[in-house]
Amino acid sequence: MLNNRNIQFVILAITILGLSSCKPQSGEKNEDKFALTPLNYAHKISAKIDSLLTLMTLEEKLGQLSQLNNAGDKHIDSVTINAIRKGEVGSLLINRRNFYSIEERNFYQKLAVEESRLGIPIIFGHDVIHGFRTIFPTSLAQSCTWSPDLVEKGAEVAAREAAAQGVDWAFAPMVDVARDPRWGRIAEGYGEDSYLNAIFGAAVVQGYQGADMSATDRVAACMKHYVGYGAAVGGRGKQFTDISKRTLHEVYLPPFKAGVEQGALTVMTAFNDINGTPATAYTYGIREVLKKEYGFKGFVVSDWDAVKHLLWHGIAADTTDAAQLALNAGVDMEMKTIFYKKLKEALAEGTVAIETIDDAVRRILYVKYKLGLFNRPYVKKDNTKELFLSAAHRKEAREMAAASMVLLQNNNNVLPVTATTKSIAVVGAFANERDVMGWWKSTGKFEDVITAFDGIKSNASNKVAVTDKIMADTDIIIACLGEPSHYFGESRHRADITIPAEQVEFLKSLQKHNKPIVLVVFNGRPLDLSNVTELAQSILIAWHPGSETGNALADVLFGYHNPYAKLTASFPRSVGQVPVYYSRRNSGNPNGNKYVDLSGEPLFPFGFGLSYTTFEYSALEIEKNKIPVNGTLKLSAIITNTGDKDGYEVVQLYVRDLVGSTTRPVKELKGFQKIRLKSGESKRVSFTLSTKELAVLNKNFEPVIEPGGFHVWIASNSTEGLQGEFEIVE
Ligand code: BGC
Repeated sequence: MLNNRNIQFVILAITILGLSSCKPQSGEKNEDKFALTPLNYAHKISAKIDSLLTLMTLEEKLGQLSQLNNAGDKHIDSVTINAIRKGEVGSLLINRRNFYSIEERNFYQKLAVEESRLGIPIIFGHDVIHGFRTIFPTSLAQSCTWSPDLVEKGAEVAAREAAAQGVDWAFAPMVDVARDPRWGRIAEGYGEDSYLNAIFGAAVVQGYQGADMSATDRVAACMKHYVGYGAAVGGRGKQFTDISKRTLHEVYLPPFKAGVEQGALTVMTAFNDINGTPATAYTYGIREVLKKEYGFKGFVVSDWDAVKHLLWHGIAADTTDAAQLALNAGVDMEMKTIFYKKLKEALAEGTVAIETIDDAVRRILYVKYKLGLFNRPYVKKDNTKELFLSAAHRKEAREMAAASMVLLQNNNNVLPVTATTKSIAVVGAFANERDVMGWWKSTGKFEDVITAFDGIKSNASNKVAVTDKIMADTDIIIACLGEPSHYFGESRHRADITIPAEQVEFLKSLQKHNKPIVLVVFNGRPLDLSNVTELAQSILIAWHPGSETGNALADVLFGYHNPYAKLTASFPRSVGQVPVYYSRRNSGNPNGNKYVDLSGEPLFPFGFGLSYTTFEYSALEIEKNKIPVNGTLKLSAIITNTGDKDGYEVVQLYVRDLVGSTTRPVKELKGFQKIRLKSGESKRVSFTLSTKELAVLNKNFEPVIEPGGFHVWIASNSTEGLQGEFEIVE
């Protein structure tokens, strides 16, 4: 309770520190002379936070650590409204099924900013994963473009639309390296490779936050799920993971480090148990690595109910214990708060220190300042009509969707559909399916999706008949099959990763027509396609392409877009091979990488994808075969477009460290370039490899550049390429 003396102090402090700037009128610009401008911003943030902290009651502090959600029919109940008025709600999670109007969002914000004692704005969070209203392909699909620039642009579109509706904070990117396609959430990340997850994660952070994250069209990014979630045993999410320190540091952590370096404002913990410690109580990972070693300044939020899960994991005795475990481990905000209120008891019991609570509050306020929420708490202008599904946004989504489709097989060059084609049949479970926006659809609507059939029909020349049945004069069958959106995503794991059996039967039934068949696969995860490769001439992986599905598909089928996408996660021959990934460590018996009944190699490897043209790699040049420990090496090869169409090629650089103090993967991706070549054109493509990129963690986990030999490949995928060698010398 505030007594009179305290109230006087508060008023005085508010006046002196200019905290009245927290209280603009709804919709008005805050012209306060104390407002934070970019110039005075950096050095004033810390002072502002300090001054706020001195004014906050324990309840208000714990309030900042709380995120409440709006699931259910009523958006916000009276209890929450009162809590906001009391300054006890730091964040609201907006559920996609129950999205607020801008007025409603401003109303809640007004309660916090104008009716609570200190006027600290709420940060509104939402799962903006691959689009907000204009839905882009799933993240795994996006990574197959090998185009960070496209991915960044896609994130920018999503941020613009989300921010227009009042979202301040997007729960993405997910950078969980995933090597088990049974795991439904493999669709949400950027594949099996740590390096690629780092690159695409950073691109999304940049696309969401931009250069000025307080701009009206930006949102805070959230790197998730920290850490090792993709290693769930058996692909069953939310399970335990056993991750060695080496694998943790070499595979699972680097994408988070890259996100922190890119300035990601928040990080979300994972659901898994890491070697006996749940991620939400993982002091080593959060405090030691993320906050101390990486210097992460933003805040860490738990995942949904993950603090409560500490009871289920069996490491917390009761709710207070769960709360103290999570906070002490470094989880600053509890998503869907129920337990963090108990921190008051933990404080009284002495299991948490006020300094720990203050540090968490400080981090949350820091993010709110960085986002400009104190100066601009409201959505002032409703420009959603101009932005949502605008021609420009649809264009970006279409380009990304076409660019992410991977051509895995194209016997007899059945694709692209030729000019002589007169009749196309588009059939199969996904021909007219609108639910092709993946698992996280945000506010995407089915009615805005261009179906495969509609897109093919509207983009075909008017001389071509596009039918939904196979006719006597059908020239080509486009069979649209795959897995529905509820087969992948959170808690959607599959033990059988083939195309559903009834659809395979349907594909078999098409054989009797004796027509060329193009199998278009709509999938969230890498599938086992071994039972369908013989049933179609061409196989195109379309993923779940989003709002522009049909248009993008037509672009690829008709050759308006020459595919260049390449897989970022291996497609196994059988679920029995799983996990199968290109960068496995070498073993004492290299020939042992196989089964009695199956090869150890995937059906379609990492980095693989066809084009309508062909590329030849020749004349590998390695500048020198010995480089000093702190040197760089230039490598190049000539790539020639030997086909009759212009096209892009994703040229990949792999290395293998031959002898080191610890065993190394048989191949590691170290670079890539997307180049465009006209038919017949050749280009010498160069890479510069610095020895820093070849550093390894020694037995003491210190990064070292070890002298010794390396193999290097400039390659079109992880199983082919021109091979050379070089040596690092002391
Ligand atoms: C998921 C997160 C998501 C959160 C909020 C959780 O169940 O694991 O990825 O951001 O819900 O919707």
